[in-house]
Amino acid sequence: MTNILFRVVEIVDETPDIRALRLVRQDGQRLKPYQAGAHIDVVGPTGLLRQYSLCSPPDDPASILIAVKREAESRGGSAALHEVRVGDHLKVSRPRNLLSIADGADQHVLVAGGIGVTPLLSMAYELYACGADFQLHYFARSRSEAAFVDLLEERVEFRDRVRLHFGVPRAAQPALFLELAASLTPATHVYTCGPDGFMAQVIAAFAPAVGDERVHVEHFVAAEVDTSSDRPFTVELDTGEIFDVPADRSILAVLEENGIEVFKSCEEGICGSCVSGVLEGTPDHRDSCLTAADREHQMALCVSRALSDKLVIELY
Ligand code: FES
Repeated sequence: MTNILFRVVEIVDETPDIRALRLVRQDGQRLKPYQAGAHIDVVGPTGLLRQYSLCSPPDDPASILIAVKREAESRGGSAALHEVRVGDHLKVSRPRNLLSIADGADQHVLVAGGIGVTPLLSMAYELYACGADFQLHYFARSRSEAAFVDLLEERVEFRDRVRLHFGVPRAAQPALFLELAASLTPATHVYTCGPDGFMAQVIAAFAPAVGDERVHVEHFVAAEVDTSSDRPFTVELDTGEIFDVPADRSILAVLEENGIEVFKSCEEGICGSCVSGVLEGTPDHRDSCLTAADREHQMALCVSRALSDKLVIELY
């Protein structure tokens, strides 16, 4: 995927661990609107590639905004991005979207945990712009550990629609979620992003009220998978080429070893770069990015395998 050179024009420390970077295209071109909830790949100073959600208004033609949380066990990705200065350059991919606003909802409820507020922020801008009915519930350990609080409290798009929940213990959150879920109409769509345990509690509370298919999830970390019973299978491309996938290799790895170019980024089933069409066979889905509807005809080649002896796939 072609990356575009951006320049860092503003850096704001939102919290001691979260730094917001505003970026403009180095060639001066205007930005096309992106789909709310989208993320980009960013190649940092160490050459490591990471995904970050866009959290600026999706129709801002001048700049994009990302927020980088310094991870305690950073292998050079987030820590290096905390070292960039105004004027530095970063390579950035085109936006991709795995969490999008649903059509036909009569209300949208956004539930953010910690740094998970970032994709939901762009969705809130978009929902406000199109006059939709929405609420944003933002959970963080404390005010000082929550990013974008001043903006959420002051901007007209957010101030009447945002509820800040600071210091609510994890054990007390399900009761709060259930209380919120009880007031929703069945045509409400719920979107959540945050730590996996937090999102699991959101799903458990809201899915019985609105249905599984109306709870939309954005993952930052890969799901854990038991690979002990993995077995070999065959993959056929829509071009007719056939490849054997051993028990210890991914479809993505086998295709690359055979000179087939496949878009990829995270290689953990999170970013959606390698998602391809499934024309025949039954995938064993192991990604954290596709919805149940997506999985009916698509799969992530970096992590998912096959339940059938053979898959026929179409590369995008
Ligand atoms: S490379 Fe990111 S989902 Fe496969």
